[in-house]
Amino acid sequence: RKRVVVLLSGNGSTLQALIDQQPDSHYEIVAVFSNRPDAYGLQRAANANIPQHAFDHKDFSDRSLFDQHMMQKINQLNPDYVVLAGYMRILSSKFVRHFSGRLINIHPSLLPKHKGLNTYQSALESGDCEHGTTVHFVTAELDSGAIILQSTLPIRHSDTVQTLEQRVKSMEQKVYPLALDWLCSGRLICKDNAVWLDNQPLPKQGYS
Ligand code: GAR
Repeated sequence: RKRVVVLLSGNGSTLQALIDQQPDSHYEIVAVFSNRPDAYGLQRAANANIPQHAFDHKDFSDRSLFDQHMMQKINQLNPDYVVLAGYMRILSSKFVRHFSGRLINIHPSLLPKHKGLNTYQSALESGDCEHGTTVHFVTAELDSGAIILQSTLPIRHSDTVQTLEQRVKSMEQKVYPLALDWLCSGRLICKDNAVWLDNQPLPKQGYS
């Protein structure tokens, strides 16, 4: 099994899905890190007997020092992959470069649409007919690395931020463990910023 470290900042429902699928997968979550000591995701890790580490970014004078510290702690665990699961802090380019090809994220939009925050509101305000989620490799540019997988759902007339979020999240909880398992089983690789699944190049917008 591949060794996986998860980074989060909040509720951790995405982590929970990864934990729940772990027995049927090729990964083992060896630690959870949070930049928020009060993140509920830490409790979920504790409930699953996964070691947790919380570092308050406010205790560090700048982003690069904080990331440097995290990097050292993560390196000690020898992870094969570092998985962002609702980690709501931009990572320094040094951190991203260090884990390049081994660092993935899930973002609640059909990238390249709606990068950054408040993606549900932004999709509704743009009058989009569909929304969804994207699993991608992380590069120094925000929400821009090679796409592994996208999952789409139609936006209903009656949708609000809350209803849309609920549907997208339940989709995320299915696809993120799947994508991580592809990676950890060796089925999925990234070469020169292109993603291959079972020796086939994936289309630029990823698998869907
Ligand atoms: C997830 O929906 C994830 O896609 C999003 O944060 C949520 C975390 O929920 N990530 C981002 O917006 C990253 N830019 P959780 O704390 O319940 O797992």
